[in-house]
Amino acid sequence: MLISDFPLFPEQGSTVAGQVDALFIVLSVITGSVSILIFLLIFILAIKYRRTPQNQLAQDQEPPQMLEAGWIGIPFVIFMGMFVWGAWLYFRLARIPDNALDVYATGKQWMWKFQHSTGQREINTLHVPVGRPVRITLASEDVIHSLFFPSFRIKADVLPSRYRTMWFQATRTGRFHIFCAEYCGTQHSGMIGWVEVMEPTDYQKWLAGGSEGSLASQGEKLFQTHACNTCHTNDATARGPVLVGLYGSDVTLGDNSVVKADDNYIRESILNPQAKLVKGFGPIMPTFQGQVSEDDLLKLLAYIKSLGGAPAPSPAGTPQKEQRR
Ligand code: CUA
Repeated sequence: MLISDFPLFPEQGSTVAGQVDALFIVLSVITGSVSILIFLLIFILAIKYRRTPQNQLAQDQEPPQMLEAGWIGIPFVIFMGMFVWGAWLYFRLARIPDNALDVYATGKQWMWKFQHSTGQREINTLHVPVGRPVRITLASEDVIHSLFFPSFRIKADVLPSRYRTMWFQATRTGRFHIFCAEYCGTQHSGMIGWVEVMEPTDYQKWLAGGSEGSLASQGEKLFQTHACNTCHTNDATARGPVLVGLYGSDVTLGDNSVVKADDNYIRESILNPQAKLVKGFGPIMPTFQGQVSEDDLLKLLAYIKSLGGAPAPSPAGTPQKEQRR
């Protein structure tokens, strides 16, 4: 086998993969050459200045000032360069494009469950379109997992206590590995899967193939099953706050502080309603901790998102065109 056949890196499958690799290679080359230089100098200087009959005691010697300035100045410039480059890439990875397609992932000992806005569900396989940003909202049923797409060069911890998001934009169709990158129990190594990157038309066809209604409409059903609708009517005088237009808005709490109604706020308000009481409402909502699975929580979240700021919510419409955040 030729050395060139050996894949040192997984293939590059996302818009950020090339940048991540370039930064990684530059960092490795810089730190590697500095290490080699240091070990070489230790070796050479130890021999050169070894104890001899003429050289019994160490002598103090002032280094030339230019040398001193050099070993302060050059590393400073290199470090600042690495910092600026790293920060630029970090922000690029952290900033989710507005037109991202929403996918929901739940980690569980030991499998990955994915849900699409249209209601399709899959286990250990994720279908996505090529050339379109995909935002994944992550939740865990049990312990900390980490969703890792080696070909996309992205990885994010999946936490049992709150939502996190990650995104990628695939640049080529094909089948790429998914791994769990956080030790999570005996079957951790088996918590693997595949992401299938498809042409947009194939993806639309795949989406059209059967589901139990959109994620939001499944959430709406749960909203009724858990009798949430008895208090959260759309009447401002009801026992629970109005949820239409809630997502992404600012909420004033009992102590007059203001919080943003984001994914984690909504999650907390379902599991621990007393934590952040909306101004003017009493602590009457029961907790749903332990009664709603992570998958169902994501459905409820999708439903509440679908109520957005839109005057007439129709979550069952054409969710693949959904542009809301
Ligand atoms: Cu899940 Cu390791």
